[in-house]
Amino acid sequence: MAKIIRWGIIGTGLIAKEFAAGLTSASDAELVAVASRSKKTADAFGDVAHVKKRYDNYEALAQDPDVDAVYVATPHSFHKENTIMCLRAGKAVLCEKPFAINAQEATEMIQVARERHLFLMEAMWSRFFPLMTKLREMIASGAIGEVRMLMADFGYRLDDLKNWVFNPNYGGGGLLDVGIYPLSLTHWIFGIPNRIVSMVDLGETGVDEQSAVLLGYEDGRIALIASGTRTETPQEAYLLGTKGRIHIHSPWWRPKTLTLSLSSRADEVMQVPYQGNGYNFKAEEVARCLREGKTESQTMTLDETLAIMKTMDTIRDQWKLKYPMES
Ligand SMILES: NC(=O)c1ccc[n+]([C@@H]2O[C@H](COP(=O)([O-])OP(=O)(O)OC[C@H]3O[C@@H](n4cnc5c(N)ncnc54)[C@H](OP(=O)(O)O)[C@@H]3O)[C@@H](O)[C@H]2O)c1
Repeated sequence: MAKIIRWGIIGTGLIAKEFAAGLTSASDAELVAVASRSKKTADAFGDVAHVKKRYDNYEALAQDPDVDAVYVATPHSFHKENTIMCLRAGKAVLCEKPFAINAQEATEMIQVARERHLFLMEAMWSRFFPLMTKLREMIASGAIGEVRMLMADFGYRLDDLKNWVFNPNYGGGGLLDVGIYPLSLTHWIFGIPNRIVSMVDLGETGVDEQSAVLLGYEDGRIALIASGTRTETPQEAYLLGTKGRIHIHSPWWRPKTLTLSLSSRADEVMQVPYQGNGYNFKAEEVARCLREGKTESQTMTLDETLAIMKTMDTIRDQWKLKYPMES
């Protein structure tokens, strides 16, 4: 594998544009191709992001021998199909979150990657910020003692009910869209819960507009999660330990600042700035793994991605929220 990873992007929406911008500050990346369902859209994207190869279908990009890794940036309900298509064409894949609609889909995607010994990762970008690396080091060194509770939220207000984020056919709803961020943080810090209790408000399109989830662990640890797409929440995260607490300032999912509070001394505010728009870090993680011949990231493993999908399945079961493609 060459040092520079040659990227292709599938889908030309909001996040695809952010990722393309992020690649310009990634140390080892070149954006060589983009694919859209329409040539006009691919060209418009290519002009802005300076991409030479523009395809009017996703399969053509997957088959391009000049592409090393594909970033799948389509709505949730297409992640499985798009990812498997790229893996079958021999590409490494970085698939947007949520990785899939449910654990069954995620299992199929992971199976194809593992059978073919190809790299695959969920693009949970929050994990790759320098502040999150620092957070992990602080926890491991016992900075706040044993972490006993975690509180985190991610809710925003979207008014347009016609947006696919409210459409059950696309896997709409706040949990898969943004609830996954605090859930992923919880899995990262605490692991797999053994008890889940939740409450939801299902909106007029039938998907979750806001929800609250409590996750419990064998030794009494608890996480409190809130998310939604019709309610702006503070977007703060707190880790509460036996010796003190860490507050990751809003928006915690794109973090720059944390406060360490210990009873023995004054609060310490730590700034952890970063270069780029933040989307560069997940691309750099893919590049590092590919250079080292790895088929998985140790920071976002496929087993953990699957565990998070299972947790979301359990939560949706409690709400009796089934998507049309699941029946
Ligand atoms: N990591 C993050 O920070 C982050 C942030 C936002 C979103 N996301 C995730 O990224 C994915 C895309 O989100 P987005 O906000 O970028 O969505 P978006 O703006 O609606 O863009 C999605 C793109 O997917 C393609 N697409 C293929 N089939 C489609 C269909 N039937 N309907 C609509 N679009 C279709 C379209 O590209 P073409 O027309 O060019 O084919 C479209 O531009 C979602 O899974 C979302 O959860 C991640």
